[in-house]
Amino acid sequence: MSDRLIIFDTTLRDGEQAPGIALTPGEKLTIAQQLAALKVDVIEAGFAASSDGDFEAVSNIAREVRGPVIASLARCHPDDIDRANDALRHAEKYRIHVFQSTSAIHMERMLRMSPDDVMKSVVEGVTRARGYVDDVEFSPQDATRTDPEFLIAVCRAAVDAGATTINVPDTVGYATPTEFVELLGQVYAEVTRGRDDIIVSTHCHNDLGLAVANSLSAIHAGARQIECAINGIGERAGNTSTEEVIMAVKTREDQYGVEIGADSRQLFDTSRLVSRLTGYPVQFNKAVVGRNAFAHESGIHQHGVLRDRLTYEIMDPAAVGQSGTQIVLGKHSGRAGFQDALNKIGVSLEGEDFQRAFNRVKELADRKVEINEEELRLIVSDTPQGENAVQFVGMHVAGGHDITPAATVTLLLNGRQESFSGTGDGMVHAAFAALQQGFGVTAGLIDYRVVPVTAGADAMAEVNVVIGVDGNTYSGRGIDTDVVEGSARAFVAALNKSVGSKPKEA
Ligand code: KIV
Ligand code: ZN
Repeated sequence: MSDRLIIFDTTLRDGEQAPGIALTPGEKLTIAQQLAALKVDVIEAGFAASSDGDFEAVSNIAREVRGPVIASLARCHPDDIDRANDALRHAEKYRIHVFQSTSAIHMERMLRMSPDDVMKSVVEGVTRARGYVDDVEFSPQDATRTDPEFLIAVCRAAVDAGATTINVPDTVGYATPTEFVELLGQVYAEVTRGRDDIIVSTHCHNDLGLAVANSLSAIHAGARQIECAINGIGERAGNTSTEEVIMAVKTREDQYGVEIGADSRQLFDTSRLVSRLTGYPVQFNKAVVGRNAFAHESGIHQHGVLRDRLTYEIMDPAAVGQSGTQIVLGKHSGRAGFQDALNKIGVSLEGEDFQRAFNRVKELADRKVEINEEELRLIVSDTPQGENAVQFVGMHVAGGHDITPAATVTLLLNGRQESFSGTGDGMVHAAFAALQQGFGVTAGLIDYRVVPVTAGADAMAEVNVVIGVDGNTYSGRGIDTDVVEGSARAFVAALNKSVGSKPKEA
């Protein structure tokens, strides 16, 4: 058995299926490039047959991203498999990942197919995929609620038809570590039958909060691939979290005894990028990448850590890219200081983008005394990039219990400043109405969340919005010391996406 654990990252496929996430093909490419920098082994770039947008995203990633194997999901349908192959064929290395449901409830209620028909479709699907590429993965969906005898028979048939990876999904997050180890052990013994070219894999959902524990426990039963997503995003309660798996096998090498190729120092940046583009905040106490993951609050802990970090820290913050760099920018910071701070967080900005972000830092520093590393990262990511983006210039709002809330927003459109007004139930609503005027679109608000970035009354707020325009969803993020202005900035980011970053005709 190999000692190498394959990290199969599905942030862009299962992760993107999480409610309210709507990544553009360009954003998916940015995440895929970061996943390549993290050196995951496989990037599941999407489900090519599911939409034109997903097809475009998978093909862009296949063309541009080098290093990891690029995979697309496909049902056991000829059209799906052909479409996956079309999207992937320019990749350096690629994999077609076919799946079919095998539990009684899925076969009877959802597919309305008999076990024999399911078996036939798996053999046909895997055979068709194998006609295109040698690297084929098969997943029996809802494996943990499938009759084990049927599960083994389907997986064996998939291997006989040419599948090289057999993935065991706990689709509904139902398994416990003890039974998952038992099931994986059975699959490993009875499906690979001693063949070390067949990899057994896990894909665990987190409905009972057991996804990471289940996945890791399967290593003891012979699993050598774990499917996971950055920040644990995914359907419902999410997937196994990539950063937790990577750091668990690194930190407890004595327990797991497997090697990984991932560069854990990229974890923090990857987590923040995914959070920013998906609009899903990272919970403060999130293992490995949460902002409190290395923060020591109590006096006893602080005292211990100051004497020797190892008294209360099992991982070095630098090992996950939380370098502890002390960055403080204030209103007296100049361009050189700003450039130096950007270098420290590994961000490169040029020309207009540099100037815009610098102006924004100065503007915020005038209102708030100091800007720390976390805030700088958000400011930089919040600054509209690209020539065509409509820029938020400023706003006035008025409201109170006896007057109708009203907002006037000023935007930079086609190089000219223009103001637009709107009213609403509250000041955020009024700003949203004014911005829709400015962009000339009608949008619905699907999700709205405010998270404080740092503690204190002068803290900056991070606002995440998801809007719906013409049946499509777009996310945006804005930060500001003022929640209404942060909300307006988030709407501008989402509205820019909805118009493809093109201002309406004057
Ligand atoms: O959860 C699941 O079963 C899946 C499969 C398609 C692998 O995502
Ligand atoms: Zn899944």
